[in-house]
Amino acid sequence: MQNDIQKILLTEEQIKTRIAELGRELSKEYAGKNPIFVGVLKGVVVFYADMIRAIDVPCQLDFMWISSYEGTESSGKMVVKKDVSADITGRHVVILEDIFDTGNSLDYTYKHLLEKNPASLKICTLLDKPERRRPEITLKADYTGFVIPNEFVVGYGLDYNEYYRNLPYVGILKPEAYQNK
Ligand code: IMP
Ligand code: MG
Repeated sequence: MQNDIQKILLTEEQIKTRIAELGRELSKEYAGKNPIFVGVLKGVVVFYADMIRAIDVPCQLDFMWISSYEGTESSGKMVVKKDVSADITGRHVVILEDIFDTGNSLDYTYKHLLEKNPASLKICTLLDKPERRRPEITLKADYTGFVIPNEFVVGYGLDYNEYYRNLPYVGILKPEAYQNK
């Protein structure tokens, strides 16, 4: 599997260091607020597990699963496959995401959760690829791990065709790897 990687963009060490920093920021911001961290499945799972353990305040965990309507990513139409389980009304909510790319997923998730009237709603994303953002999306992440160039990346939860999520770092695939999976 590691042979399929052309270049490591973010090492395990870089990710670990950055998550510790974000953890300190979030712990400060959310002290006494009992936040709920909503992870957007599935790409977030690895980041989520590390991120929540870097946060040193009482908090609750929840998940959403959304997908592009009828599998057409370009349409920008999304559907909720699994909604949050908790009642988030009046709660301080932080969305955790793997990557802020075109922005379709986060825009949809943000609006969906905002309708449930949380006390506050913020976004924490591991990766941000601003060059890919649809121009009409004005939403911004409140906490960002890394801003990355416009390259397709895998690992640390991110997939190509559902593979490579279990790589411990974020990397770029060799062109030939796309043909094999
Ligand atoms: P969006 O384009 O911002 O809506 O991102 C949609 C989803 O596409 C993300 O949550 C990721 O799961 C996936 N995605 C976007 N860019 C990449 C990438 O470079 N590698 C792997 N998955 C990606
Ligand atoms: Mg995702």
